[in-house]
Amino acid sequence: TKPYVFITRKIETEVLKEWTETFEVKMWEYEERPVPRAILLEEAAKADALLTMLSDKMDRELLDVAKNLKVIANLAVGYDNIDVPSATEKGITVCNTPDVLTDTTADLAFALLMATARRIVEAAEIVKEGKWTGWSPMLLAGHDIHHKTIGVVGMGKIGETVAKRATGFDMDILYHNRSRNVAAEERLGARYTSFEELITTSDFIVCLTPLTNETAGMFNKEAFMKMKQSAIFINVARGAVADEEALYEALVKGEIAGAGLDVFKQEPIGPDHPLLTLPNVVALPHIGSASVETRQGMIMLCLDNITHVLSGKQPKTIVKL
Ligand code: GLV
Ligand code: GLV
Repeated sequence: TKPYVFITRKIETEVLKEWTETFEVKMWEYEERPVPRAILLEEAAKADALLTMLSDKMDRELLDVAKNLKVIANLAVGYDNIDVPSATEKGITVCNTPDVLTDTTADLAFALLMATARRIVEAAEIVKEGKWTGWSPMLLAGHDIHHKTIGVVGMGKIGETVAKRATGFDMDILYHNRSRNVAAEERLGARYTSFEELITTSDFIVCLTPLTNETAGMFNKEAFMKMKQSAIFINVARGAVADEEALYEALVKGEIAGAGLDVFKQEPIGPDHPLLTLPNVVALPHIGSASVETRQGMIMLCLDNITHVLSGKQPKTIVKL
């Protein structure tokens, strides 16, 4: 019998057709709606492999019923939705999609930084809504980006690639990371600082750190208070790395100047989310790696990883504890 693979969202790609010769493949039928928990549990109990989304909770309860499961291929570089220690204990390989999304995510991070600083969304809305009454000296005047200081929190591959873009804007680059990134220091002139120095001296604070017990809520009330009043906070990592209520307070009180957010603690957010009432917030629906090419690349990488593990080979990309 063929190994059983369950894909938790509707995805389209040519190779899946060939795949059905080797594997029995079932897919959740909707693209825009996550698979209900009850169905995910049922499928996990049967599957040899799961291709999962970051919105699927792969917790202990699920892993306990997944008696045949050999591999979880998560369609994301982040894997905070997966209980990796439990999976590892059960001999289940966990794979993510690093590298293929690095440039695309760095592009989005920089686009969001620029959009927030230069008030692009607000400006475009004014034109579309017919509220543009003519040129005026301070109309939608924003913040400069060039020659400012960018502070990257989480200097992995994506952070480094954001820093590379910043060099083209003559920015001073600071970073904070669990470990030094000597390559980034040498190639990009990035300077390692404490978290404290980074948040107090940066004009743009870009959060790219994975969500872990250590990073949850690291951007808290104290952190926002220490930032410059002109600082702009950009989050393209995970919403829970920042305390959203503290961020809202900081923006309302003018402790910081703006925020560009691609991620939220509880996704999706609805139109009544307090942060959406603020004109100096640019909010995006978690689209960091969302280019057609990159999403196809991520899907292919997940499929390759599943094929590799189910045929007893090393996956291309693996999450290690
Ligand atoms: C998206 O957030 C990812 O982790 O790839
Ligand atoms: C992970 O978030 C990375 O920076 O590659």
